[in-house]
Amino acid sequence: MALLEVISIEKSFGQTRVLDGISFTLDKGRALAIIGSSGSGKTTLLRCLNFLEKPDRGRILVNDELLFDAEDALTQRESDIRRKRLNFGLVFQAFNLFPQYTVLKNVTLAGELLLRERGKKQADAADGKQIQDEARALLAQMGLTGKEGAYPHQLSGGQQQRVAIARALALKPKILCFDEPTSALDPELTGEVLRVVRSLAEKKMTMIIVTHEMAFARDVADEVIFMDEGMIVEQGPPQSVISNPREERTRQFLARFSSEA
Ligand SMILES: Nc1ncnc2c1ncn2[C@@H]1O[C@H](COP(=O)(O)OP(=O)(O)OP(=O)(O)O)[C@@H](O)[C@H]1O
Ligand SMILES: [Mg+2]
Repeated sequence: MALLEVISIEKSFGQTRVLDGISFTLDKGRALAIIGSSGSGKTTLLRCLNFLEKPDRGRILVNDELLFDAEDALTQRESDIRRKRLNFGLVFQAFNLFPQYTVLKNVTLAGELLLRERGKKQADAADGKQIQDEARALLAQMGLTGKEGAYPHQLSGGQQQRVAIARALALKPKILCFDEPTSALDPELTGEVLRVVRSLAEKKMTMIIVTHEMAFARDVADEVIFMDEGMIVEQGPPQSVISNPREERTRQFLARFSSEA
């Protein structure tokens, strides 16, 4: 059974159809790379999965639970959306850390708020400690031991992005989504972030990675989707989509990266 099922998602902004019938499934423990030129709808797709945009048509299921159905208003209740959103973690291109909080606080904040929201008026000490311990372990996994007390402005871009990944993981999402996690970084800093994403793939974290790093997608992804003009043009293992594409449009897109892939 697929962990994630995306069925016939459509989304328009005004007269422009940005997603035009996107369907795919993703099994647990798999890494899906989404590639495609600027404006093809990659970010919009991730935003739809994370309930930051509302699709005009289509359905989204996780673990067979219908999270969203454009035809069914009952699936769109604001009160449920926060819970449903927790299925997904999202790491953006720009790291969006809270500048006024330490690294540790950036990672623990959402979990602490969630505890409080769930009726625990005073998140008891044991819960608080568990959140802190888990955050420290995640930061260690990201290679950030010793940075817990630093503020975002004291970190490099690569370090900040690794904090953002720890923060996304802290809420234990079933599916972690990356939107071009390295495109705001200097080239010498992309490697450290890609290494972290690779290690998550090795640990069988289920992931959707929008990226322009073709060599990385080819090495790390189990599956690749090439999008163009809001549609999936080609989908399959990286050995076929990236190394041996069938569609002319995929070939043209990849030709721009030919020195790399
Ligand atoms: N909120 C919005 N309002 C109007 N148009 C939008 C909005 N968000 C995205 N678009 C348009 O939708 C199209 C797809 O944008 P999207 O950001 O999803 O593309 P992308 O594949 O992520 O591109 P890039 O590789 O440049 O990040 C673009 O034409 C964009 O201008
Ligand atoms: Mg984008």
